[in-house]
Amino acid sequence: MERGKFITFEGGEGAGKTTQAERIVEALGEAGIEAILTREPGGTFGAEAIRDLVLAGTHERWSGMTELLLMYAARLDHVEKLIKPSLERGVWVICDRFSDSSMAYQGHARGLGADRVAAVHAAVMDGFAPDMTILFDIDPILSQKRVQTRGEDLSRFDTEELEFHKKLRTAFLQIADENADRFHTVDAASSRDAITMQIQHAMMQKFPDIKLG
Ligand code: TYD
Repeated sequence: MERGKFITFEGGEGAGKTTQAERIVEALGEAGIEAILTREPGGTFGAEAIRDLVLAGTHERWSGMTELLLMYAARLDHVEKLIKPSLERGVWVICDRFSDSSMAYQGHARGLGADRVAAVHAAVMDGFAPDMTILFDIDPILSQKRVQTRGEDLSRFDTEELEFHKKLRTAFLQIADENADRFHTVDAASSRDAITMQIQHAMMQKFPDIKLG
């Protein structure tokens, strides 16, 4: 049985990641590839409980390092109980956010520092990494407008000001640059259909055995 592929979707808020992740799971299914959609923080019973803790309340609730450790506690549960077992069964796993979000949010935008995040990552993840990461890049002014017009409950992260989102964008672009073999960056200001096609194309280049769309 060939191991499934692990593909993560990353980027700032309001970039349209979630819709695209759903579309890609559907496209894989149509191509005869079993795939699941999951998210972080969350994805398992335990990790969803941690998600509730970490996303509720004001951003002063947790220090940067506590927040990072909560993210990694949730992540380890998710990797051990859902992601790795699925991949081993040959199932592809599409994950809405993963460890690059910790590096961008906690490491860069919240100022914990890349070295500390990398140290925690290495200690917890033991070399486990996505096969491919799609980065949704968008001007934060545009993405904030999208979040506001979605009319969702604003999580504490959405109330952060523009400066934070600008730092986040720079951080993600830097991470993508440093991991160019794993990343594919899409212009998240494009139309939904154009983005789906771009992702499918990038996936077919990366995994030549599959045919999508
Ligand atoms: P969510 O509502 O899922 O946001 P989005 O739809 O933008 O993905 O909330 C997840 C929030 O958690 C989001 O603001 C990013 C943040 N986050 C971190 O700060 N560090 C992490 O490691 C992860 C996975 C998420």
